[in-house]
Amino acid sequence: MNKVLVSLLLTLGVSAAAHAAGPLVGDAEAGQAKTAVCGACHGADGNSAAPNFPKLAGQGERYLLKQLHDIKGGKRTVLEMTGLLDNLSEQDMADIAAYFSSQKMSVGAADPQIVARGEALFRGGKIEEGMPACTGCHSPNGAGNAPAAFPHLGGQHAQYVAKQLTDFREGNRTNDGDSMIMRAIAAKLSNKDIQAVSSYIQGLH
Ligand code: HEC
Ligand code: HEC
Repeated sequence: MNKVLVSLLLTLGVSAAAHAAGPLVGDAEAGQAKTAVCGACHGADGNSAAPNFPKLAGQGERYLLKQLHDIKGGKRTVLEMTGLLDNLSEQDMADIAAYFSSQKMSVGAADPQIVARGEALFRGGKIEEGMPACTGCHSPNGAGNAPAAFPHLGGQHAQYVAKQLTDFREGNRTNDGDSMIMRAIAAKLSNKDIQAVSSYIQGLH
């Protein structure tokens, strides 16, 4: 993918995110009180214990709010959360996003056997196949780009990350917008690539 296309995608990402987030301002303190049911799976502070439940702690506020809208509205299917968001108002979701975003994501460890392959993919992409590096959008330390709603990845559970990349590749997750950026990227990743880059991400900080 060339530089012009990537910067166009970045611009589209920013304007779409700004639109989705709306004018509401989230209140982290009010949000904490609304997360009792979420904590059972995602952890009270958003650092989940189980590797199939994503960590929400320290995740960008706009990205979190976008996912809540997408899950509630059916653009992203999360069976475990069926009905859980139905009674939440726009303000509730903004407050919850602000709360989890204000926490700090914990970091795991990468598998030393595959970390080199994972790092090469994350930092270098696959130039010969036109796949950009992950760093361009998710930043070199995995912190993402919060105003653009590019998610924080560093420290996220490898099992969860691998499932998302596989879901994007197989068309089971399709909420990456009209640019289809993550579907296009995941299409270039083999199972072994996904395993390696996910392991690298789990230890990244
Ligand atoms: C029964 C377990 C469970 C409960 C309770 C639950 N979730 Fe989830 N949640 C999940 C799973 C599993 C996923 C990821 C599904 C997948 O693999 O795509 C998820 C995904 C998410 C995501 C997307 C994360 C990302 O990185 O894209 C957000 C945001 C989220 N949940 C917020 C919440 C909030 C807020 C609540 C409480 C109102 C809640 N969840 C309650 C299981 C749960
Ligand atoms: C051009 C920008 C761009 C590049 C390059 C990019 N991503 Fe993404 N990625 C995104 C955006 C935007 C989303 C959020 C999609 C949405 O709104 O659901 C995302 C979402 C993700 C998610 C889901 C996070 C979660 O919490 O559920 C994972 C995992 C991911 N990207 C991994 C990667 C990896 C690995 C690479 C490199 C091989 C990569 N991305 C390259 C823009 C990018």
